[in-house]
Amino acid sequence: MSCPRSAALLAQRRIAPSILAADYSRLGAQVAEVMAAGARILHVDVMDGHFVPPITIGALIVEALHESVHDAGGLLDVHLMVERPERHVAAFASAGADIITVHAEATPHLHHVVGAVRQSGCRAGVAINPATPPIAIAGVLGIVDLVLCMTVNPGWGGQAFIPSSLEKIGLLRELIPPGLPLQIDGGVGEANASECTAAGATLLVAGSAIFTARDPGEAYRRLAAAAGAA
Ligand code: DX5
Ligand code: ZN
Repeated sequence: MSCPRSAALLAQRRIAPSILAADYSRLGAQVAEVMAAGARILHVDVMDGHFVPPITIGALIVEALHESVHDAGGLLDVHLMVERPERHVAAFASAGADIITVHAEATPHLHHVVGAVRQSGCRAGVAINPATPPIAIAGVLGIVDLVLCMTVNPGWGGQAFIPSSLEKIGLLRELIPPGLPLQIDGGVGEANASECTAAGATLLVAGSAIFTARDPGEAYRRLAAAAGAA
């Protein structure tokens, strides 16, 4: 359920660690490490084996994490890489999601599902794949709380950042209302974080750059410094 602090956190430039790359045998501890390092937006990658080939995590994991993340002042940012996301909004909202992001490519009823996310009490995001033009989300820009520009093709962590994404981030920045958070996801690390923020990204999702590091807390801090993030 969206809380008052979500607006303030979303307005900041922030790194959002993606738990996709975490060690699931000690997930709670890994989340605590990045939150102790300053992370407040925790990105949760939900994949259904249809919209993207892998199956990852469901609402049970959000339910398991929500208390500790919220107690530490954080938000759960759920990225639904699933077909027909309208079927899953209620489950993630009641599990404790704060932000639910849906893909424009995943439903013929994008306006409806964004409205359903907001009705559920969560902040709503809309995501587009690398091959989807920015104009595809024009019809929902007035009702979303963030825009997510995929900078890899969704489905796997650890892929290389698609170079043409930088231009697309700039195009999206021109299209979307000023002040609307622009999130990027995939292949983000210390080497390209500042280029991405210069192009207009404000929320940088990072999975392997943080959780494959020996010390995820230290990796978070270094990435936040490289991005000029909070
Ligand atoms: C990819 C996911 C990403 C993924 C990013 O489909 O949406 O959130 O965790 O992983 P890295 O940072 O390793 O590219
Ligand atoms: Zn993601």
